[in-house]
Amino acid sequence: MRPLAFFFKKKYEALLNRIIPTSYYPTRPFNLNEVSMDDLIKQAADDLAAARNVVALTGAGISTESGIPPFRGKGGLWEKFDPMEIAHIDAFMRDPARVWNLLVKDLKETLDTASPNDGHKGLAKLEEMGKLTTVITQNIDGLHQAAGNTDVIEFHGSFAWQRCMDCSQKYETSKVDISEIPPRCSCGGILRPDAVFFGEMIPQDAMWRSRQAASDCDLMLVVGTSAVVQPAALMPVYAKESGAKVVEINPEKTPLTLEISDYLIMGKAGEVMNRIILALESKI
Ligand code: APR
Repeated sequence: MRPLAFFFKKKYEALLNRIIPTSYYPTRPFNLNEVSMDDLIKQAADDLAAARNVVALTGAGISTESGIPPFRGKGGLWEKFDPMEIAHIDAFMRDPARVWNLLVKDLKETLDTASPNDGHKGLAKLEEMGKLTTVITQNIDGLHQAAGNTDVIEFHGSFAWQRCMDCSQKYETSKVDISEIPPRCSCGGILRPDAVFFGEMIPQDAMWRSRQAASDCDLMLVVGTSAVVQPAALMPVYAKESGAKVVEINPEKTPLTLEISDYLIMGKAGEVMNRIILALESKI
């Protein structure tokens, strides 16, 4: 294509992608070029083969195939509840029993039995292959560690532990007796998840290490996040600013798509990861 025509085509595509909601062309690839899924998988395998330091940023979407509901979109938790009413620290302080009953109890029951799916296993495989160094996850379900990833930054904390609001003693969530709500510490204090509620700070160490990992990588895989919650959604921006490729895996477009990410592989994390790993294994 001649340079001028190429320039206008790019401008036109960017404009269309801004004004046409994804739902009008749900089966289209990441832009209007009709890039096939096969080509995108091949491209991702080539990029991973060339990369030396891959970091993944994951969100709730990677765990949906393990039976854990996402927050936004169809079937998402925030369709049923107003997050400010049940996932804000003020709501918890006002009425811990209500938040336990509406949110935390269900989450505990779901996570007690959840296991990693092919999306998590694919990222663990990438670490085993010597490609992926760090997973930055917004998830609190512990499934990356269960799959075998060894450097997992839990950006929003962890649900594996409950913490006493009075003495900070920690209890393993799976062993916490929830016959009485809210559950209490031996000192009488109320237990809360060792995770970040809306209105709370990101743990300093997680913030600092994530920023560092994002700036040091040469390829960032952004898997299953709507990329609308800050500051997690800034990590791909840091990666991009430092010259890394940014590759999204998500059935939907996000605010990163075409702005920050180099390309989006539109599909479910498990299926896409399986195909990428197969393609990569045949290369190295
Ligand atoms: N594979 C990959 N992506 C998927 C899949 C799947 N099988 N299913 C859904 N998705 C995508 C959705 O298209 C969406 O973009 O996962 C994303 C889930 O978005 P959210 O529910 O907003 O989850 P997340 O981005 O992790 O939310 C960030 O918001 O409420 C807070 O603290 C909560 O950590 C969470 C933060």
